[in-house]
Amino acid sequence: MPQAVKWMDGTDGVLELIDQRRLPGEFITLLVRDTRRLHEAIRTLAVRGAPAIGVAAAYGPVLALQSLGANATTVDGLKAIVEACDFLATSRPTAVNLFWALDRIRHKAQKVCQHPQLTLGELHEAILAEANAIRAEDIEMCRAIGRHGEALIREGAGVLTHCNAGALATAGQGTALSVMFEAQKKGRSFKVYADETRPLLQGARLTAWELQQAGIDVTVICDNMAGWLMKKGRIDLIITGADRIAANGDAANKIGTYSLSVLAKQHGVPFYIAAPSSTFDLSIAGGAEIPIEQRESREVTHLGGTATAPEGVAVYNPAFDVTDAQNITAIITEKGVVENPDTARIRELLTER
Ligand code: MRU
Repeated sequence: MPQAVKWMDGTDGVLELIDQRRLPGEFITLLVRDTRRLHEAIRTLAVRGAPAIGVAAAYGPVLALQSLGANATTVDGLKAIVEACDFLATSRPTAVNLFWALDRIRHKAQKVCQHPQLTLGELHEAILAEANAIRAEDIEMCRAIGRHGEALIREGAGVLTHCNAGALATAGQGTALSVMFEAQKKGRSFKVYADETRPLLQGARLTAWELQQAGIDVTVICDNMAGWLMKKGRIDLIITGADRIAANGDAANKIGTYSLSVLAKQHGVPFYIAAPSSTFDLSIAGGAEIPIEQRESREVTHLGGTATAPEGVAVYNPAFDVTDAQNITAIITEKGVVENPDTARIRELLTER
């Protein structure tokens, strides 16, 4: 499994990221030593996918501490951590895992700083331990999601997915793709259709690459082919990831996911979202409140540096859309599966299990 986010220990530790902008052509890792570079890596999608963004960001305050001078105090350290969290929170708006991870680090730092004798070294140790815990928990959550979902993929099934919710999008083996990896471990053969996922082609570049590496039968299709495949009876189920799930189950994911859910309803195809509890935002009631990232027009007007639209043409480029809970057959989490998700069922799963 590719490791999208790795921490390399040392006197000054370094964050190692797979540069996902270069895949599948080149497998290159980035060594990130400061928060400015980390912010850029997240903003430009070198590291992407909701859980991976959260895990990578968790190491940002650690890098900020390491950048302080030799005479820095614990007060300077806490200030640097809070500033790093505020700065990294501006990198991308939709995936709630980013804010969840940064909040965890900030709270941890504030808590340990209540000890009057705390040294800067101990502060560093405490927040590095918290970042490592976030990463380790993500790896575990990914596995558990796969185990909870694998039975949904029957022998010979046709599975459609959108964008990339694989190892590259998490610290572990992915969310939607984890379900596939676990079904494969059970010895089942099935066929995956990967939407290419315009405009940045995460499906064609990343999902197809991951599944091919894993020896899973994968076929890339253009996004506009999905409905026809459903009509032809080639799709038995759809599984995607999510970037933020509201309290009522409305789920933001890569632009195009909502259209798939409508097509799925029309053709009687079950539509699943696979996501860890760090992707739920119970502070918001419904999907209308999820902030949707707007990205630059060049992503739509150019392909590999070549213009595919006339210069100066107006472009609308939202990176995500929201699928209504009523279109979701079930949400697969590390705690179990919520069928027909609604506010009560989600609260019960997340708070009582
Ligand atoms: O813009 P991206 O590539 O970060 O968008 C990623 C997605 O939409 C994924 O489906 C989502 O983050 C789930 S990843 C487990």
